[in-house]
Amino acid sequence: MRLRRSLIDLNDLSGDELDYIFDRTRVFQTRAPGPLLDGTAVVNLFFEQSTRTFTSFNLAQMRLGAHVVNLSPNDLSLATKGETVEDTVVTLAAMGISVLVVRHPEPGFPARVATCFDGHVVNAGDGAHAHPTQALLDIFTLREEFGDIDGLTIAIVGDILHSRVAHSTIAGLRSCGANVVLVGPEFFLPGNYAQHGVTIERNLDDVLTKVDAVVLLRIQRERFIAMPMSDEEYIAQYQLNGKRLKRVPERTIVMHPGPYNRGMELDDSVLTFAGWRYAMQVHHGVYIRMAVLDFLVNGVSVVC
Ligand code: NCD
Repeated sequence: MRLRRSLIDLNDLSGDELDYIFDRTRVFQTRAPGPLLDGTAVVNLFFEQSTRTFTSFNLAQMRLGAHVVNLSPNDLSLATKGETVEDTVVTLAAMGISVLVVRHPEPGFPARVATCFDGHVVNAGDGAHAHPTQALLDIFTLREEFGDIDGLTIAIVGDILHSRVAHSTIAGLRSCGANVVLVGPEFFLPGNYAQHGVTIERNLDDVLTKVDAVVLLRIQRERFIAMPMSDEEYIAQYQLNGKRLKRVPERTIVMHPGPYNRGMELDDSVLTFAGWRYAMQVHHGVYIRMAVLDFLVNGVSVVC
């Protein structure tokens, strides 16, 4: 029986555990904790490109005193020498590695690693499936902004279907009692996304007048072959721009998991909008990842 905790998606955490991670995130932001992962050996295994997630996991690990090894696919024997994932994991465990942070284009890959690794696995994004630490930092950002997010209306706009961020964030927002409005064309947002507390809208202009927060998504072109509408049509219907920003209530904030594509899902006026919270999300990401790693490795603790 595996006793160690992993984080594959948000439903691996109870409501109390979410609150604990958010409390620790807040503490870590106000004062640097001691070396809570002193001597813990961590491998970051990134099979896909990453700027934000990779860097913030690295910073989080270093700030907690972990020993960190970064591996990209080209460094691994499984790429060209026929070693299986399972045997790679056995090899890393034999060297005393106890945490694997895994990003992979295949949905379910981190879960597969977790079944054969007697340590902690953190999913740093698997295909279009899940990205739990991004969802945590998104929810943390909303909580810092609004306090309680129960009853808030949060619109997620764009390529929902191919977004692992959206899939984890929708689940997290629902568990916190937010009303989630998904906005996009049928191709990116099939009707079966509607569920209790989650509604589907096709018209962005109608939605903007009643939102507390807007989460914009990039069109994830690497995950599909052809788009059934032109970029111009998409921009006309779904781009957040200066004109559309005039429709939002005064305290509305705008978020984006990054990377954002100027001229597509947003124009430059969003980047100077008073409610633009992208940099704040990235900032929170380091502390959220510190709190997640500390929780998985050390459990619930009263000492910082
Ligand atoms: C996203 C990702 O890689 O899942 N970015 C991130 O990790 N912050 C979103 C994307 O690729 O569009």
